[in-house]
Amino acid sequence: MKSSKIVVVGSANTDMIIQLERIPRPGETILGGEFSMAAGGKGANQAVAAARAGGAVDFIACVGEDMFGQQAVAGFEKDGINMAHIIRHPTSPSGVALIFVDQKGENSIAVASGANGQLLPEHINGAAEAIASAGILVMQLEIPMVTVHKAAALAADNNVKVILNPAPAQMLSDELLANISILTPNETEAELLTGIAVNNESDAAAAAKVLLGKGVEFVIITLGEKGAFVATSDSCEIISGFTVETVDSTAAGDTFNGALAVALGENKSLKAAVRFANAAAALSVTKLGAQPSAPRREEIDGLFGQEV
Ligand code: RIB
Repeated sequence: MKSSKIVVVGSANTDMIIQLERIPRPGETILGGEFSMAAGGKGANQAVAAARAGGAVDFIACVGEDMFGQQAVAGFEKDGINMAHIIRHPTSPSGVALIFVDQKGENSIAVASGANGQLLPEHINGAAEAIASAGILVMQLEIPMVTVHKAAALAADNNVKVILNPAPAQMLSDELLANISILTPNETEAELLTGIAVNNESDAAAAAKVLLGKGVEFVIITLGEKGAFVATSDSCEIISGFTVETVDSTAAGDTFNGALAVALGENKSLKAAVRFANAAAALSVTKLGAQPSAPRREEIDGLFGQEV
């Protein structure tokens, strides 16, 4: 890794959460829920997770000039994230997500992207130096795809490793995949990208092979509490997860990606980096909310050192 600096390009949302017995079906109203608000958005969650795991993080994002945008920015400042490239859009509202969390900690999420949709290639040009001097660029798919393409190409031209978390699930072009160093789909996203349903280890290997064939260096398929399936051109294995009590699985994947970037930036081996990310993700599901649940370095190190 040429530097340990992490640049995250992505979304920031405010999450409106209702915890309830089960997620309502279409047309159904369920009473008895509990409401809370928390900072969220896949990009911001990954930036915060990386900062709390000990990374030096630069976040490139777009929020509105409203109260939600102000609160989001105040949170990033608290976590020591460099905000030189956060755009405040004068007319678009900040992103908002409505999240149902059921008794088992599973969720259902709807996002109104607002200002996230205004993060454009020109903003990547404006942050070109920050990206070119980073060790790792981390992205997800809650901002315009043209922006993701632009940032990935810029990173690849400057020998910067790119972690792409392909969430929410969308098809990706071969051109984009050729610029990705590490792709981190979950099982559903891996299926959408490859057409192969991932139900077991050999399915995961087959899906990973397709993606490796497109030029991705490492494919890491996250498997929830089972851990993560890690594939390179000459090996593949499952790195086991940690067993914890799940309160809310929201942002477990985001925490995984943020922590993974930190561990790779510290030159941990791929296997150790995934174990570190598994530990961070496991800790995140023990608490409610996206950013409130991102663990700090000492907590991650504590779990990382334990037997699985
Ligand atoms: O990955 C979880 C995130 O997805 C939430 O924080 C929500 O804002 C949506 O972006």
